[in-house]
Amino acid sequence: MRFDVVTLFPEMFTGPLDSSILGRARQSGLIEVALHDLRDYTEDRHRTADDTPYGGGAGMVLKADPVFRLADALFPGWGPKAGAGVKGKVPGARCIYLSAQGRPLDQSIVSRLAGEPRLLLLAGHYEGIDERVLDALVDEEISIGDYVLTGGELPAMVLIDAVARLVPGVLGQPASPLEESFSEGLLEYPHYTRPAETRGHRVPDVLLSGDHEAVRRWRRRESLRRTLERRPELLLAADLSREDHETLRELAAGGGGPGEEEKDES
Ligand SMILES: C[S@@+](CC[C@H](N)C(=O)[O-])C[C@H]1O[C@@H](n2cnc3c(N)ncnc32)[C@H](O)[C@@H]1O
Repeated sequence: MRFDVVTLFPEMFTGPLDSSILGRARQSGLIEVALHDLRDYTEDRHRTADDTPYGGGAGMVLKADPVFRLADALFPGWGPKAGAGVKGKVPGARCIYLSAQGRPLDQSIVSRLAGEPRLLLLAGHYEGIDERVLDALVDEEISIGDYVLTGGELPAMVLIDAVARLVPGVLGQPASPLEESFSEGLLEYPHYTRPAETRGHRVPDVLLSGDHEAVRRWRRRESLRRTLERRPELLLAADLSREDHETLRELAAGGGGPGEEEKDES
């Protein structure tokens, strides 16, 4: 899968994209990330990519023409279909503007985007990008949360990270993304590793029992408990069995505190 990122600050991506799982995925060619410096597509001596807003007001706005020139270079022939009155889309890629005004990113959007062969990500800065770019080029706007950041670079990295780990082969264990938080509409159960006891804190006995069915039931229960306690609204859309509903009724009635049976023993 390929990501093309349009940014004024390509140097910000060094580090996050070079390390750990993403670094390995890039090295092995499972994902490709091309960083495009918007200033390379300016035409004046000072490489000016922003200008003051029409109508006045504070802040600067990223100019449309450098972005359009970049699109010309990457996707020759892109543009609105003449007379069709539809937004111009780039061929072979989905164009996303990272924006505080976009749809909040969640795991279902991440899964959908992981099915695309190529994403063109526009990182805004200052007050944002000239609206004509959004009209002509952008397929969707995505926000990483209801707060305002200084630029779209961190949101672009968040999106790349979340999408890339769903690309087959990027994670070592193929089962991992299926079990984790949000994949079934629930938060994930807690994790423990060796030693079985540290500073008086014991791992829940069931996890040491070797009884796979008991472990499965415990994990499901903890997953339901966490979701009920922390994000109860997720339960409305979650895929729940009759057993899950019974467990939730018990939990709501106060049945078993967090890891009660196991933790109270220590
Ligand atoms: C200072 S912000 C511009 C905010 C804009 N004037 C507004 O009120 O929506 C600069 C850039 O950061 C990015 N950005 C800021 N907050 C974001 C968020 N929550 N999610 C995604 N991108 C964000 C966008 O690319 C935006 O163009």
